[in-house]
Amino acid sequence: MKARQLFVFILACIGLFSPVHAAFVTMETPGTRLILDVTEGQLLRSLYYGDKSATVNDITQLLNGQINDQTVNAYPAFGDIDMIHLPALQVQHANGDLSLNLQVQQSAINNQPDYQELCVTLMDKLQPVTVRVFYKAWRNVDIIETWTEIEHREKRPVILKRFDSGYLHIGEGDNVWLTHLHGDWAAEAFVTHEPLTRGLKTIRNTDGARNAHLDAPEVMLSLDGAPQENSGRVIGVALCWSGNFEIRLNVPNNQGVHLYAGIDPQSSEYVLAPKRVFTTPKLALTYSTSGIGGVSRAFHRWARTCGYLHNGNAVRDILLNSWEGIYFDITEQRIIDMMDDIAAFGGELFVMDDGWFGSKYPRNNDSSSLGDWVVDTRKLPGGLQALTEAAKQRHIKFGIWIEPEAVNTVSELYEQHPDWALQVPGRELKLGRGGTQLVLDMTNPKVQDFIFQLVDDLLTKNPEIAYIKWDANASIQNYGSPCLESINTQLYIDYHLGLIKVLERIRAKYPNIVIQNCASGGGRANYGLMPYFDEFWVSDNNDALQRVYIQWGTSYFFPSNAMAQHIGGSPYQMTNRVIPIKFRCDVAMSGRLGIELQPKHMTNEERLQCTVALADYKALRHIIQLGNLYRLIAPQSYQPSAVGSQSATAKQDVAALMYVTDNRAEAVLFAYSLSNFMKQAPQRIRFAGLDPDRIYTIEEKNIRVRYNHSTSTWDTGEPCSLHGKQLTGAYLMSVGLILPLSTEYTQDFQSRIFHLK
Ligand code: DGJ
Repeated sequence: MKARQLFVFILACIGLFSPVHAAFVTMETPGTRLILDVTEGQLLRSLYYGDKSATVNDITQLLNGQINDQTVNAYPAFGDIDMIHLPALQVQHANGDLSLNLQVQQSAINNQPDYQELCVTLMDKLQPVTVRVFYKAWRNVDIIETWTEIEHREKRPVILKRFDSGYLHIGEGDNVWLTHLHGDWAAEAFVTHEPLTRGLKTIRNTDGARNAHLDAPEVMLSLDGAPQENSGRVIGVALCWSGNFEIRLNVPNNQGVHLYAGIDPQSSEYVLAPKRVFTTPKLALTYSTSGIGGVSRAFHRWARTCGYLHNGNAVRDILLNSWEGIYFDITEQRIIDMMDDIAAFGGELFVMDDGWFGSKYPRNNDSSSLGDWVVDTRKLPGGLQALTEAAKQRHIKFGIWIEPEAVNTVSELYEQHPDWALQVPGRELKLGRGGTQLVLDMTNPKVQDFIFQLVDDLLTKNPEIAYIKWDANASIQNYGSPCLESINTQLYIDYHLGLIKVLERIRAKYPNIVIQNCASGGGRANYGLMPYFDEFWVSDNNDALQRVYIQWGTSYFFPSNAMAQHIGGSPYQMTNRVIPIKFRCDVAMSGRLGIELQPKHMTNEERLQCTVALADYKALRHIIQLGNLYRLIAPQSYQPSAVGSQSATAKQDVAALMYVTDNRAEAVLFAYSLSNFMKQAPQRIRFAGLDPDRIYTIEEKNIRVRYNHSTSTWDTGEPCSLHGKQLTGAYLMSVGLILPLSTEYTQDFQSRIFHLK
């Protein structure tokens, strides 16, 4: 029996995979279908991906003539493609040959209650190189994952020069639009919608350690022209990887769109020893006939229910984070005061951010101490125990910040282990944040143990710690690891494999601790790391106006219970913008709510509004965090049709979104007026996702507090005129409501939250 046959046979014996004997395989999700031709001895062909209207019969009738092998090759390798097409895979064999001619050797299927997984084994005709292509179709959500395993039995190592996770041919004409996110620190996830034109468009990120600040590893393709929120055919793609990636969209003259997605091969040629298996990251694909909203909802459901967000179906606590309130100025008293404040507001968790550690070198600013994870007892004489005890007394949980993958040159760790930092022997170190920051070498098993130990020590010595904020504030700038024996081209990849190894160890021992994924804000909002994290920090920018945009873009791919959104101060320190507390609360309440400011500086109005917001949020969060998202009105500049076509007097600077429970019995609407113009036309909001036959009662939430002149205090306010109205879902969705968002003489930043039940 040959090796591959043996592999399939073993899998079949242990009851996972059974051999496929048919020529065609159909992989199905509730609303989508993928049809593959797995005929042995031929190319693996992907014949169809879309909704369920196409059958094997339809497709096979078109096989003669209409379908061309260059466009249906499911995993095109260099050697099998013509000069119009690009390879998804290219290797350099031990003898220098660059080609592959892959043909199906075997296929096997694994049927599980939640998913169906297909493994197609391809062999090169000449060299002993095996490629296994996997497809995993989920039964409860419209997502199909694909990835590959590459292995060989050549006498010497084979170099992987390109190794995409997947390839997709989209046989559409000239009106396919690309939607992707682009941003920066404090300005993440800006949405771009653009028509795909002829030629090659590449989206990639080469930060090394984080991959979502600039270009992000997720895209959508709208097949019916400019994207619509709730209609039109759209394909969604997410690469589950946190390192450098490349998504290529090739549009040759007459053959539709070719999408390739995988690890960025630049500076990352992988040297694969004989019999070692290289596994590419998963690529998640979805197809929707309900516009980009349908694609977002599929990703959200998949994240929550298929293990791509840790503890995906749990609702998250409301917290106060110390960072923007006190930065590095931590003292025991200040921390305890902040705990008093969040407890008084009705919050459930306090998180002590940066600044709590360092012995020989106290962490008083960002230029020292990373790596020295010991409590600075000058600031916290009672240690962490005094803080966890104080939290317990206030009936709140306690969380703590760490940045485990980093070290400062000014630290005891660096003095003891300078070789643990990434570096190129003989070259001057490039230093990051604070002028002294370096990235630890995650390929080094000793570093992996050190980081595991740091978390393990924190949690065994302080079992009351309920939450960790895991930060990562540096790119890989020193491109070398003493552990890789000069095969530095593996560094960008092995760094992340090392990180994942550590996270897996931590999760095996601590499945219930909540861990936030932070990377200078949203630098690691990706599905490569999300399985190990409960949420991510969306952005360091807490300006509620810009947050409407940042959160809007982020929601294209990520579910709301993963999106940490905090109420910031006003004027906001980064933008100097003054924003009313009601608006700040309403913007933060559309995801996982938190507060990030110094409560001591809050006015009485702010304190009361926050208390109302937190109480209302508790009653609504099962809908907000776990409901289905419908984006109703995009902040103006995101609407492709609106670009350049609006005059100032027609300005309608409104954004609105809503969440609906699975059974459509309850919903929450968030509506924001971003700026107020004289004589601005009122904006009608049409709801979505409701049950047309159900009657919904409208209740206004987080009602704006008002000043009581007779008592000279702030009181709870009055709801608007829509409060208590009972309307059918049909009316709300087709006619809609004009919300009292602004009048001629109100300021900017009006907002409303409605609970529909
Ligand atoms: C960057 C993070 O994004 C911030 O929220 C904060 O934790 C700082 N690091 C602390 O240094």
